[in-house]
Amino acid sequence: MSLFSTSDTKTITHEWIRRFTEFPEPHLGSRDASVQGKVVLLTGSTGAVGCHILHALVQRPHVSKVYCLIRQNKKGKSNTTDQRIEEILAENHISEELTPEQRQKITTISYDVQNPCRLGISSEDYETLRKSVNVIVHNAWAVNFVMDISGFEAHCRGTFDLLSLAMQSELKTKPSFVFISTIGAIMNARPFPVQEKLYGFEAALNGTNYTISKWATEQICAAAATSSLSSSPPNGLGTVSIIRLGQICGDTKHGMWNPKEAVPRCLAAGYTIGFIPATASHDETLRWLPSDVTGAAIADIALLDQISTAASAAAMKIPSVAVYHIENSKTCRWHGDVLAALRRHGMTDFKTLPWHEWAERLAQSDSNVLRNPPYRLLRFYQMAAAGREVRAADGADANVRLALDTTQACRVSPRLAEGTVLDDALFGKFLRYWKTQPDWAGQVYAARL
Ligand SMILES: NC(=O)c1ccc[n+]([C@@H]2O[C@H](COP(=O)([O-])OP(=O)(O)OC[C@H]3O[C@@H](n4cnc5c(N)ncnc54)[C@H](OP(=O)(O)O)[C@@H]3O)[C@@H](O)[C@H]2O)c1
Repeated sequence: MSLFSTSDTKTITHEWIRRFTEFPEPHLGSRDASVQGKVVLLTGSTGAVGCHILHALVQRPHVSKVYCLIRQNKKGKSNTTDQRIEEILAENHISEELTPEQRQKITTISYDVQNPCRLGISSEDYETLRKSVNVIVHNAWAVNFVMDISGFEAHCRGTFDLLSLAMQSELKTKPSFVFISTIGAIMNARPFPVQEKLYGFEAALNGTNYTISKWATEQICAAAATSSLSSSPPNGLGTVSIIRLGQICGDTKHGMWNPKEAVPRCLAAGYTIGFIPATASHDETLRWLPSDVTGAAIADIALLDQISTAASAAAMKIPSVAVYHIENSKTCRWHGDVLAALRRHGMTDFKTLPWHEWAERLAQSDSNVLRNPPYRLLRFYQMAAAGREVRAADGADANVRLALDTTQACRVSPRLAEGTVLDDALFGKFLRYWKTQPDWAGQVYAARL
């Protein structure tokens, strides 16, 4: 099993692109959606970013309804989809901010990405979606850096199913489609700054299976837009948007940042092995964006008054696939800001090591992931360390991983253009939140914190 891209991965993903671009003939819709406002289908609303996308959407007056597609019985729990969304909104302090009117806009629908028959959506719900949805935001994904490539096939097929749903819409103007991708999907793209456009497979090379699956799905979304253009009569999708997210951090109000993600886990090593990777002389520039600001920026893009169809975009010589890069225009430094702030907030007992030495030390540390959770992502961190070595050997600035153009995204989202300062207080919120989470720094350390 390989965690990273190989020639096999290239063959597999090209096969997915071939299979998952055989779209059905678009349905010639007859319904007029102009009176109903924006009716949004959202996936991944139970996730760290998705709950903030949902919050941002329901706050917009012209959004009349958000259908959240949610998997029921996750990991054997018998929670209904309504119970799951209630829990997530409460945990993230979103419920307390919603007015009754905003809450009423949310309707949950059960789906299962593993189900090859229309995502397991009931016929009744499927018809409701076909009749009313005019914006689809596809945000759900297995954010898993160590999963085998085969595990992502259902996600690529699921995107195909959602694109097909859009094409089968009964509306005269078909839904626009927004796919949430990652900047990891084009981590090898050159030259800098990487443009807000599609790239070939070489740009995805050396990524993880997760990032390669996102690259493949970007291609599937682009093919859907193109197939809409060539359909006759032209009755295809609205604009297809691909949003590549950079590193997302916890929200600005409560600092809730999933302790299982790569950055929090890396910082937890300061407790579990006593070391965090950093080199003061080559301090890394970070463009982390808080999850609530990210949700608002995604809503800005998704609700943009799109060119009504891909065909009219083509007539106006506007690309029918729009790509956006979302990251923070206000930067901070790993060593100078983040680690310094953590020390000021009481995390003082750690030393720093250059990345490759840190990865070696982690490899030799306790392999029990309950006591030492950072060990779980060892292979991923080893790859990150190796990437820095390669960039240094190339004479490139090892601390500039990827420089991105964000012009289009900033044009659409004023809050993104403005940027968000990550200050000392916010780093303190992250640390306080992680300390409440037993699986951040492991069982033994949880008792000590
Ligand atoms: N966070 C970042 O820094 C970052 C950076 C770049 C891109 N992204 C992208 O942003 C999106 C959201 O990420 P996130 O950080 O919010 O991730 P997250 O907290 O792990 O949430 C993932 C969401 O996807 C759903 N999901 C995962 N596997 C599923 C499956 N098999 N069937 C149905 N639903 C499934 C989850 O539903 P359950 O609750 O049922 O598990 C959850 O709602 C993802 O597409 C991710 O690739 C995130």
